[in-house]
Amino acid sequence: MNSQTVLEQDLFSPVQIGPYQLNNRIVMAPLTRCRSDDDNVPTEMNRIYYQQRATAGLIITEGTQISPQGAGYPNTPGIYNDQQVEAWKRITDSVHAQGGHIFLQLWHVGRVSYQGIQPNDQAPVAPSSIKIAGDYKQPHALKLSEIDDILYDYRNAAKNALAAGFDGVEIHAANGYLIDQFLRDGSNNRTDQYGGDYKNRIRFLFEVLHAVTHIWGNDRVGVRLSPTNPFNSMSDSNPEELFKYVVKQLNSFNLAYLHMVEGALSFSDTTTEIPAFDSRSLRDIYQGTYMANLGYTKQSANQAIQNGKADLVSFGDLFISNPDLPERFLHNVPLNKTNMDTRYGGTEKGYIDYPQFDFSYV
Ligand SMILES: Cc1cc2nc3c(=O)[nH]c(=O)nc-3n(C[C@H](O)[C@H](O)[C@H](O)COP(=O)(O)O)c2cc1C
Repeated sequence: MNSQTVLEQDLFSPVQIGPYQLNNRIVMAPLTRCRSDDDNVPTEMNRIYYQQRATAGLIITEGTQISPQGAGYPNTPGIYNDQQVEAWKRITDSVHAQGGHIFLQLWHVGRVSYQGIQPNDQAPVAPSSIKIAGDYKQPHALKLSEIDDILYDYRNAAKNALAAGFDGVEIHAANGYLIDQFLRDGSNNRTDQYGGDYKNRIRFLFEVLHAVTHIWGNDRVGVRLSPTNPFNSMSDSNPEELFKYVVKQLNSFNLAYLHMVEGALSFSDTTTEIPAFDSRSLRDIYQGTYMANLGYTKQSANQAIQNGKADLVSFGDLFISNPDLPERFLHNVPLNKTNMDTRYGGTEKGYIDYPQFDFSYV
Protein backbone atom coordinates (compact mmCIF):
# COMPACT_ATOMS: atom_id res chain seq x y z
CA MET A 1 0.00 0.00 0.00
CA ASN A 2 1.26 3.45 -0.88
CA SER A 3 2.22 5.64 2.10
CA GLN A 4 -0.29 8.29 0.93
CA THR A 5 -3.25 5.97 1.34
CA VAL A 6 -4.23 5.64 4.95
CA LEU A 7 -7.80 4.89 5.88
CA GLU A 8 -9.14 8.37 6.69
CA GLN A 9 -8.32 9.76 3.26
CA ASP A 10 -10.89 10.49 0.61
CA LEU A 11 -11.28 12.50 -2.59
CA PHE A 12 -10.97 15.73 -0.64
CA SER A 13 -7.66 14.97 1.04
CA PRO A 14 -4.79 16.99 -0.40
CA VAL A 15 -2.13 14.97 -2.15
CA GLN A 16 1.44 15.59 -3.27
CA ILE A 17 2.38 14.78 -6.87
CA GLY A 18 5.94 15.64 -7.73
CA PRO A 19 6.58 19.15 -6.43
CA TYR A 20 2.87 20.05 -6.22
CA GLN A 21 0.40 19.86 -3.38
CA LEU A 22 -3.03 19.34 -4.98
CA ASN A 23 -6.16 20.57 -3.18
CA ASN A 24 -8.03 17.34 -3.80
CA ARG A 25 -7.68 13.97 -5.55
CA ILE A 26 -10.36 14.66 -8.15
CA VAL A 27 -8.67 14.77 -11.55
CA MET A 28 -10.20 15.91 -14.82
CA ALA A 29 -9.36 13.11 -17.28
CA PRO A 30 -8.05 14.01 -20.74
CA LEU A 31 -11.01 14.71 -23.06
CA THR A 32 -10.74 15.38 -26.77
CA ARG A 33 -13.49 17.86 -27.66
CA CYS A 34 -12.42 18.90 -31.21
CA ARG A 35 -13.01 22.59 -30.63
CA SER A 36 -9.65 24.18 -31.39
CA ASP A 37 -9.49 26.36 -34.49
CA ASP A 38 -8.81 25.06 -38.01
CA ASP A 39 -5.07 25.62 -37.52
CA ASN A 40 -5.11 23.45 -34.38
CA VAL A 41 -4.64 26.45 -32.09
CA PRO A 42 -6.62 26.60 -28.81
CA THR A 43 -9.23 29.36 -28.66
CA GLU A 44 -10.78 31.72 -26.12
CA MET A 45 -13.65 29.24 -25.78
CA ASN A 46 -11.14 26.53 -24.83
CA ARG A 47 -9.65 28.88 -22.21
CA ILE A 48 -13.05 29.44 -20.60
CA TYR A 49 -13.74 25.67 -20.59
CA TYR A 50 -10.55 24.86 -18.67
CA GLN A 51 -10.91 27.83 -16.34
CA GLN A 52 -14.42 26.65 -15.42
CA ARG A 53 -12.97 23.28 -14.33
CA ALA A 54 -9.98 24.61 -12.35
CA THR A 55 -11.25 23.39 -8.97
CA ALA A 56 -10.20 19.87 -9.99
CA GLY A 57 -7.10 18.92 -8.01
CA LEU A 58 -5.49 18.43 -11.41
CA ILE A 59 -6.62 19.00 -15.00
CA ILE A 60 -5.12 16.81 -17.69
CA THR A 61 -5.74 18.45 -21.05
CA GLU A 62 -7.23 16.78 -24.06
CA GLY A 63 -4.78 14.83 -26.22
CA THR A 64 -2.53 17.41 -27.91
CA GLN A 65 -0.54 16.43 -30.98
CA ILE A 66 3.22 16.75 -30.87
CA SER A 67 3.42 17.36 -34.64
CA PRO A 68 1.08 17.69 -37.64
CA GLN A 69 1.76 14.00 -38.31
CA GLY A 70 0.54 13.18 -34.78
CA ALA A 71 -3.02 14.42 -35.50
CA GLY A 72 -5.93 12.08 -36.10
CA TYR A 73 -9.09 14.16 -35.91
CA PRO A 74 -10.21 17.65 -36.96
CA ASN A 75 -9.80 20.65 -34.64
CA THR A 76 -7.64 19.00 -32.01
CA PRO A 77 -4.94 21.26 -30.53
CA GLY A 78 -1.23 20.98 -31.14
CA ILE A 79 1.90 21.98 -29.22
CA TYR A 80 4.45 22.30 -32.03
CA ASN A 81 4.36 25.99 -33.02
CA ASP A 82 4.56 29.42 -31.36
CA GLN A 83 0.90 30.30 -31.88
CA GLN A 84 -0.16 27.15 -30.02
CA VAL A 85 2.29 27.85 -27.19
CA GLU A 86 0.90 31.37 -26.77
CA ALA A 87 -2.69 30.14 -26.80
CA TRP A 88 -1.94 27.42 -24.23
CA LYS A 89 -0.16 30.01 -22.08
CA ARG A 90 -3.41 31.96 -21.77
CA ILE A 91 -5.10 28.75 -20.62
CA THR A 92 -2.45 27.76 -18.07
CA ASP A 93 -2.46 31.33 -16.69
CA SER A 94 -6.24 31.19 -16.23
CA VAL A 95 -6.12 27.82 -14.45
CA HIS A 96 -3.30 28.98 -12.19
CA ALA A 97 -5.18 32.19 -11.37
CA GLN A 98 -7.93 29.97 -9.92
CA GLY A 99 -5.40 27.99 -7.84
CA GLY A 100 -5.54 24.95 -10.14
CA HIS A 101 -2.91 22.69 -11.68
CA ILE A 102 -2.76 21.56 -15.30
CA PHE A 103 -0.76 18.91 -17.19
CA LEU A 104 -0.67 18.66 -20.99
CA GLN A 105 -1.37 15.29 -22.58
CA LEU A 106 1.24 14.62 -25.30
CA TRP A 107 -0.34 12.71 -28.18
CA HIS A 108 0.66 11.02 -31.40
CA VAL A 109 -2.18 9.01 -32.94
CA GLY A 110 -0.03 6.80 -35.19
CA ARG A 111 -2.33 4.83 -37.51
CA VAL A 112 -5.56 6.32 -36.07
CA SER A 113 -5.73 9.27 -38.46
CA TYR A 114 -8.85 9.97 -40.48
CA GLN A 115 -8.71 10.53 -44.23
CA GLY A 116 -7.70 14.10 -45.00
CA ILE A 117 -6.00 14.86 -41.65
CA GLN A 118 -2.39 13.97 -42.51
CA PRO A 119 -0.19 16.66 -44.13
CA ASN A 120 -0.25 16.27 -47.96
CA ASP A 121 -2.74 13.45 -47.51
CA GLN A 122 0.12 11.03 -46.82
CA ALA A 123 -0.48 7.66 -45.19
CA PRO A 124 -0.52 7.71 -41.38
CA VAL A 125 2.46 6.10 -39.66
CA ALA A 126 2.57 3.10 -37.34
CA PRO A 127 5.01 0.47 -36.07
CA SER A 128 3.71 -1.93 -38.74
CA SER A 129 1.50 -1.67 -41.79
CA ILE A 130 -1.56 -3.07 -40.01
CA LYS A 131 -4.72 -1.13 -40.70
CA ILE A 132 -7.44 -0.44 -38.18
CA ALA A 133 -11.09 -1.14 -38.87
CA GLY A 134 -13.10 1.73 -40.38
CA ASP A 135 -12.38 4.76 -42.52
CA TYR A 136 -8.59 4.70 -42.27
CA LYS A 137 -5.75 4.33 -44.75
CA GLN A 138 -3.21 1.52 -44.67
CA PRO A 139 -0.45 2.91 -42.42
CA HIS A 140 3.18 3.26 -43.42
CA ALA A 141 5.53 1.19 -41.21
CA LEU A 142 8.04 3.54 -39.61
CA LYS A 143 11.70 3.31 -40.62
CA LEU A 144 14.28 3.65 -37.86
CA SER A 145 15.20 7.20 -38.93
CA GLU A 146 11.51 8.15 -38.85
CA ILE A 147 11.22 6.85 -35.28
CA ASP A 148 14.13 9.14 -34.38
CA ASP A 149 12.23 12.05 -35.94
CA ILE A 150 9.19 11.34 -33.77
CA LEU A 151 11.36 11.19 -30.64
CA TYR A 152 12.66 14.61 -31.64
CA ASP A 153 9.05 15.83 -31.97
CA TYR A 154 8.24 14.56 -28.47
CA ARG A 155 11.20 16.41 -27.08
CA ASN A 156 10.28 19.58 -28.91
CA ALA A 157 6.65 19.33 -27.75
CA ALA A 158 7.82 18.79 -24.16
CA LYS A 159 9.93 21.95 -24.41
CA ASN A 160 6.97 23.87 -25.80
CA ALA A 161 4.74 22.63 -22.98
CA LEU A 162 7.26 23.99 -20.49
CA ALA A 163 7.25 27.35 -22.28
CA ALA A 164 3.43 27.36 -22.23
CA GLY A 165 3.41 27.28 -18.43
CA PHE A 166 2.08 23.77 -17.81
CA ASP A 167 2.78 22.14 -14.44
CA GLY A 168 3.72 18.88 -16.12
CA VAL A 169 2.96 16.55 -19.02
CA GLU A 170 1.24 13.21 -19.41
CA ILE A 171 2.55 10.79 -22.01
CA HIS A 172 -0.45 9.24 -23.77
CA ALA A 173 0.50 5.57 -24.07
CA ALA A 174 -3.11 4.36 -23.97
CA ASN A 175 -6.23 3.79 -26.08
CA GLY A 176 -4.63 2.44 -29.23
CA TYR A 177 -2.54 5.46 -30.27
CA LEU A 178 1.09 5.37 -31.42
CA ILE A 179 2.87 4.31 -28.23
CA ASP A 180 0.21 1.70 -27.46
CA GLN A 181 0.55 0.46 -31.06
CA PHE A 182 4.22 -0.26 -30.36
CA LEU A 183 3.44 -1.94 -27.03
CA ARG A 184 0.86 -4.48 -28.17
CA ASP A 185 1.57 -7.31 -30.61
CA GLY A 186 -1.78 -7.00 -32.43
CA SER A 187 -0.43 -3.80 -34.01
CA ASN A 188 3.32 -4.43 -33.90
CA ASN A 189 4.85 -7.29 -35.89
CA ARG A 190 8.24 -5.66 -36.42
CA THR A 191 11.30 -7.87 -36.42
CA ASP A 192 13.85 -5.24 -35.36
CA GLN A 193 14.69 -3.86 -31.89
CA TYR A 194 11.18 -2.30 -31.59
CA GLY A 195 9.25 -5.53 -32.20
CA GLY A 196 8.97 -9.21 -31.35
CA ASP A 197 9.56 -9.90 -27.67
CA TYR A 198 7.68 -7.60 -25.29
CA LYS A 199 11.00 -6.33 -23.96
CA ASN A 200 11.55 -4.88 -27.43
CA ARG A 201 8.00 -3.60 -27.86
CA ILE A 202 8.32 -1.38 -24.77
CA ARG A 203 11.43 0.29 -26.17
CA PHE A 204 9.60 3.13 -27.89
CA LEU A 205 7.64 4.08 -24.75
CA PHE A 206 10.83 4.29 -22.72
CA GLU A 207 12.63 6.27 -25.40
CA VAL A 208 9.76 8.77 -25.36
CA LEU A 209 9.90 8.81 -21.57
CA HIS A 210 13.62 9.56 -21.65
CA ALA A 211 13.12 12.34 -24.22
CA VAL A 212 10.37 13.97 -22.17
CA THR A 213 11.91 13.57 -18.70
CA HIS A 214 15.11 15.05 -20.10
CA ILE A 215 13.15 18.31 -20.41
CA TRP A 216 10.84 18.06 -17.40
CA GLY A 217 12.62 15.85 -14.85
CA ASN A 218 10.82 12.67 -13.78
CA ASP A 219 8.48 13.99 -11.09
CA ARG A 220 6.46 16.27 -13.38
CA VAL A 221 5.74 13.56 -15.94
CA GLY A 222 2.83 11.10 -15.84
CA VAL A 223 2.18 8.07 -18.06
CA ARG A 224 -1.24 6.80 -19.15
CA LEU A 225 -1.81 3.11 -19.99
CA SER A 226 -4.90 1.07 -20.95
CA PRO A 227 -3.79 -2.59 -20.89
CA THR A 228 -7.19 -4.17 -21.58
CA ASN A 229 -8.84 -1.56 -23.77
CA PRO A 230 -9.62 -2.83 -27.31
CA PHE A 231 -10.51 0.67 -28.62
CA ASN A 232 -8.96 1.34 -32.05
CA SER A 233 -8.68 -2.35 -32.97
CA MET A 234 -6.14 -3.11 -30.26
CA SER A 235 -5.18 -6.55 -28.99
CA ASP A 236 -2.29 -8.37 -27.38
CA SER A 237 -1.59 -12.06 -26.94
CA ASN A 238 -0.42 -11.66 -23.32
CA PRO A 239 -1.28 -8.24 -21.87
CA GLU A 240 -0.65 -9.38 -18.31
CA GLU A 241 2.98 -10.28 -18.95
CA LEU A 242 3.54 -7.18 -21.08
CA PHE A 243 2.02 -4.60 -18.76
CA LYS A 244 3.41 -6.10 -15.55
CA TYR A 245 6.81 -5.67 -17.11
CA VAL A 246 6.05 -2.08 -18.21
CA VAL A 247 4.86 -1.12 -14.73
CA LYS A 248 7.89 -2.73 -13.05
CA GLN A 249 10.15 -0.73 -15.33
CA LEU A 250 8.24 2.47 -14.54
CA ASN A 251 8.89 1.96 -10.82
CA SER A 252 12.44 3.20 -11.13
CA PHE A 253 11.32 6.54 -12.63
CA ASN A 254 9.67 8.21 -9.62
CA LEU A 255 7.07 9.72 -11.96
CA ALA A 256 4.42 12.26 -10.97
CA TYR A 257 1.90 9.42 -11.39
CA LEU A 258 0.83 6.37 -13.35
CA HIS A 259 -2.66 6.84 -14.87
CA MET A 260 -4.55 3.61 -15.56
CA VAL A 261 -7.63 3.20 -17.76
CA GLU A 262 -8.80 0.12 -15.91
CA GLY A 263 -10.79 -1.61 -18.66
CA ALA A 264 -12.48 -1.03 -22.02
CA LEU A 265 -13.79 2.42 -22.96
CA SER A 266 -17.53 2.33 -23.52
CA PHE A 267 -17.16 3.34 -27.18
CA SER A 268 -14.66 0.54 -27.93
CA ASP A 269 -15.10 -1.64 -31.00
CA THR A 270 -15.68 -5.27 -30.25
CA THR A 271 -13.74 -6.63 -33.20
CA THR A 272 -10.79 -7.69 -31.07
CA GLU A 273 -10.65 -9.80 -27.95
CA ILE A 274 -8.41 -9.13 -24.98
CA PRO A 275 -7.35 -12.12 -22.84
CA ALA A 276 -8.92 -11.99 -19.37
CA PHE A 277 -6.78 -9.93 -17.03
CA ASP A 278 -7.77 -7.33 -14.44
CA SER A 279 -5.55 -4.32 -15.05
CA ARG A 280 -6.40 -3.03 -11.56
CA SER A 281 -3.96 -5.68 -10.26
CA LEU A 282 -1.13 -3.53 -11.66
CA ARG A 283 -1.76 -1.15 -8.79
CA ASP A 284 -0.16 -3.72 -6.46
CA ILE A 285 3.04 -3.71 -8.50
CA TYR A 286 3.35 0.03 -8.91
CA GLN A 287 5.27 1.72 -6.10
CA GLY A 288 4.54 5.33 -6.99
CA THR A 289 1.42 7.50 -7.12
CA TYR A 290 -1.44 5.69 -8.87
CA MET A 291 -4.36 7.43 -10.64
CA ALA A 292 -7.36 5.22 -11.40
CA ASN A 293 -9.85 5.85 -14.21
CA LEU A 294 -12.95 4.36 -15.79
CA GLY A 295 -16.51 4.56 -14.64
CA TYR A 296 -15.84 5.89 -11.16
CA THR A 297 -18.49 7.65 -9.09
CA LYS A 298 -17.90 9.71 -5.96
CA GLN A 299 -18.68 6.65 -3.87
CA SER A 300 -16.54 4.11 -5.74
CA ALA A 301 -13.68 6.60 -5.97
CA ASN A 302 -13.71 7.22 -2.22
CA GLN A 303 -13.76 3.48 -1.64
CA ALA A 304 -10.79 2.99 -3.95
CA ILE A 305 -8.82 5.66 -2.08
CA GLN A 306 -9.77 4.29 1.32
CA ASN A 307 -8.88 0.72 0.31
CA GLY A 308 -5.52 1.76 -1.08
CA LYS A 309 -6.61 0.95 -4.66
CA ALA A 310 -5.91 4.50 -5.86
CA ASP A 311 -4.18 7.69 -4.74
CA LEU A 312 -6.14 9.85 -7.18
CA VAL A 313 -9.14 9.19 -9.43
CA SER A 314 -9.82 10.83 -12.77
CA PHE A 315 -13.29 11.50 -14.17
CA GLY A 316 -14.01 11.96 -17.85
CA ASP A 317 -17.67 12.09 -18.70
CA LEU A 318 -18.63 13.72 -15.39
CA PHE A 319 -16.29 16.66 -16.05
CA ILE A 320 -17.81 17.27 -19.48
CA SER A 321 -21.18 18.17 -17.97
CA ASN A 322 -20.17 19.30 -14.45
CA PRO A 323 -17.62 22.12 -14.51
CA ASP A 324 -17.95 22.33 -10.71
CA LEU A 325 -17.69 18.57 -10.11
CA PRO A 326 -15.58 18.81 -6.89
CA GLU A 327 -18.11 21.19 -5.29
CA ARG A 328 -21.01 18.98 -6.38
CA PHE A 329 -19.30 15.92 -4.87
CA LEU A 330 -18.58 17.84 -1.67
CA HIS A 331 -22.16 19.01 -1.18
CA ASN A 332 -23.84 15.87 -2.57
CA VAL A 333 -25.88 17.81 -5.09
CA PRO A 334 -27.27 16.36 -8.35
CA LEU A 335 -25.02 16.00 -11.38
CA ASN A 336 -25.77 17.32 -14.88
CA LYS A 337 -26.05 14.69 -17.62
CA THR A 338 -23.78 14.82 -20.69
CA ASN A 339 -25.32 15.62 -24.03
CA MET A 340 -23.78 12.92 -26.25
CA ASP A 341 -24.43 14.93 -29.46
CA THR A 342 -22.12 17.77 -28.43
CA ARG A 343 -19.15 15.78 -27.14
CA TYR A 344 -17.00 16.23 -30.25
CA GLY A 345 -16.80 19.45 -32.22
CA GLY A 346 -19.24 22.32 -32.49
CA THR A 347 -19.81 25.50 -30.58
CA GLU A 348 -20.16 26.71 -27.00
CA LYS A 349 -23.28 24.55 -26.73
CA GLY A 350 -22.52 21.45 -24.71
CA TYR A 351 -19.04 22.82 -24.00
CA ILE A 352 -19.00 25.90 -21.79
CA ASP A 353 -22.73 26.25 -21.09
CA TYR A 354 -23.22 23.43 -18.60
CA PRO A 355 -24.64 25.18 -15.52
CA GLN A 356 -22.75 25.69 -12.30
CA PHE A 357 -24.83 24.65 -9.30
CA ASP A 358 -26.33 27.49 -7.26
CA PHE A 359 -24.81 26.70 -3.88
CA SER A 360 -26.61 29.55 -2.12
CA TYR A 361 -29.46 27.08 -1.60
CA VAL A 362 -27.28 24.33 -0.06
C1 LIG B 1 -15.41 12.78 -25.33
C2 LIG B 1 -14.23 11.98 -24.84
C3 LIG B 1 -12.95 12.33 -25.24
C4 LIG B 1 -11.83 11.64 -24.76
N1 LIG B 1 -10.57 12.03 -25.11
C5 LIG B 1 -9.47 11.45 -24.56
C6 LIG B 1 -8.16 11.95 -24.80
O1 LIG B 1 -7.95 12.95 -25.49
N2 LIG B 1 -7.13 11.29 -24.22
C7 LIG B 1 -7.30 10.18 -23.44
O2 LIG B 1 -6.33 9.63 -22.92
N3 LIG B 1 -8.55 9.71 -23.17
C8 LIG B 1 -9.63 10.32 -23.69
N4 LIG B 1 -10.89 9.88 -23.37
C9 LIG B 1 -11.05 8.85 -22.34
C10 LIG B 1 -11.27 9.53 -20.96
O3 LIG B 1 -10.09 10.18 -20.53
C11 LIG B 1 -11.67 8.50 -19.89
O4 LIG B 1 -10.69 7.48 -19.88
C12 LIG B 1 -13.03 7.89 -20.17
O5 LIG B 1 -14.01 8.90 -20.36
C13 LIG B 1 -13.47 6.99 -19.00
O6 LIG B 1 -13.59 7.75 -17.80
P1 LIG B 1 -15.05 8.09 -17.22
O7 LIG B 1 -15.74 6.76 -17.01
O8 LIG B 1 -14.81 8.81 -15.93
O9 LIG B 1 -15.76 8.92 -18.25
C14 LIG B 1 -12.02 10.53 -23.88
C15 LIG B 1 -13.32 10.18 -23.50
C16 LIG B 1 -14.42 10.88 -23.97
C17 LIG B 1 -15.80 10.50 -23.51
